[in-house]
Amino acid sequence: MSVKIRLGIIGGGGDSLIGILHRVASSMFDKYEIVGGVFNPDWEDNILFAKQLGLHEDRVYKDFDTFITEETKLPTEKRIQVVSVLTPNFLHFPMVNALLRNGFHVICEKPMTTTYKEAKILHATLQKAKTVFAVTYTYTGYPMVRQMREMILNGEIGNVQKIDAQYYQGWINPIIHDKEQRASTWRLNPEKSGISCCIGDIGTHAFNMLEYVSGVKIESILADLNHVYDDNPMDVDGTILLRASNNVRGVICASQIATGEENSFVVKVYGDKAGLKWEQENPNYLYLMEDGKPLQVLKPGHAYNSKLSLDGTKLPPGHPEGIFDSMGNIYKGIARAINKEPYNAGEFPTIIDGIRGMDFIGKAVASHEKENVWVAMD
Ligand SMILES: NC(=O)c1ccc[n+]([C@@H]2O[C@H](COP(=O)([O-])OP(=O)(O)OC[C@H]3O[C@@H](n4cnc5c(N)ncnc54)[C@H](O)[C@@H]3O)[C@@H](O)[C@H]2O)c1
Repeated sequence: MSVKIRLGIIGGGGDSLIGILHRVASSMFDKYEIVGGVFNPDWEDNILFAKQLGLHEDRVYKDFDTFITEETKLPTEKRIQVVSVLTPNFLHFPMVNALLRNGFHVICEKPMTTTYKEAKILHATLQKAKTVFAVTYTYTGYPMVRQMREMILNGEIGNVQKIDAQYYQGWINPIIHDKEQRASTWRLNPEKSGISCCIGDIGTHAFNMLEYVSGVKIESILADLNHVYDDNPMDVDGTILLRASNNVRGVICASQIATGEENSFVVKVYGDKAGLKWEQENPNYLYLMEDGKPLQVLKPGHAYNSKLSLDGTKLPPGHPEGIFDSMGNIYKGIARAINKEPYNAGEFPTIIDGIRGMDFIGKAVASHEKENVWVAMD
């Protein structure tokens, strides 16, 4: 009998952006087997796609409620164990809440919910459920991001004194300037996306990444957001000043109207001994900057890498790994937690990361709406 973890997927159909990343990531370390799910709300699209994946028709359901009803009727040894929720944002909360209440482990896309209140309800549900929950801040799976975290944790750059993340994309630029298109994309619809577009979608990655790598906790923020047009209810650009623990200051700049930018996510942490810089579009290079010394470029797979970084490197040095590998590393950590094997706390983002992300989004919008005032995070 297969010892692989039985995985279900909700959303992430053939028409989606993120589905392929999760399917490849789940297969990477031979830990999971995709068993069934609901890939599209439309039955024809749903079943056609499931057949392409080679799934049995009896484990593909017409909708989420049927998924829960039918899966929970199955004996434990057959039932799907963990479910990846890859739908638009507004469906995360009701789906994850129901999955946890029915005993499933859950992997949820970010942002975890559409409100901070929903995030706290999920936390309470999870505490009762006692299953494994992860939110996929994908970029934390990169070996050189993990290297950065561990070098900072080990004091290699001294005391952290400045944090800085810039996440620039340009994809919404043509959409935002077209009245019809900006009214029809789900990401600019508060009912489907939540209260923020840019900060909710990518600012939250930057926030999570800064806390993940630097170890400091962001305590208060001041945001200035841009909707570009008065009839657009959502931000598509923002600059957020940060005050963090230990008197650390910083900034997050996020934009979806940075014309021509693709996925330019740059993370910088400066200590009193050295600085570290990592760029998502060139993820196998970590730059170590020290006063009076030549720039050093650290790469994955070497004896000098940390254990956590090496754990996420599958091939010898010089074989570039990318975003699929990063998500694969997160899935590997989740598999260890589900199988009750030891794992490092940095292997996958948890409900606390999800809650802090939602607090950050809510407070950024509140700061902006109050005409740019400092707002404390919980
Ligand atoms: N981690 C990352 O870096 C990252 C990157 C992109 C997107 N995301 C997140 O992933 C989620 C999905 O984003 P996307 O870009 O793939 O969206 P998308 O619009 O491209 O795809 C959404 C998918 O969900 C399906 N779906 C919609 N309603 C459904 C329902 N009721 N039941 C079952 N399936 C349903 C659609 O058919 C489609 O296949 C969002 O929360 C987004 O924020 C995360």
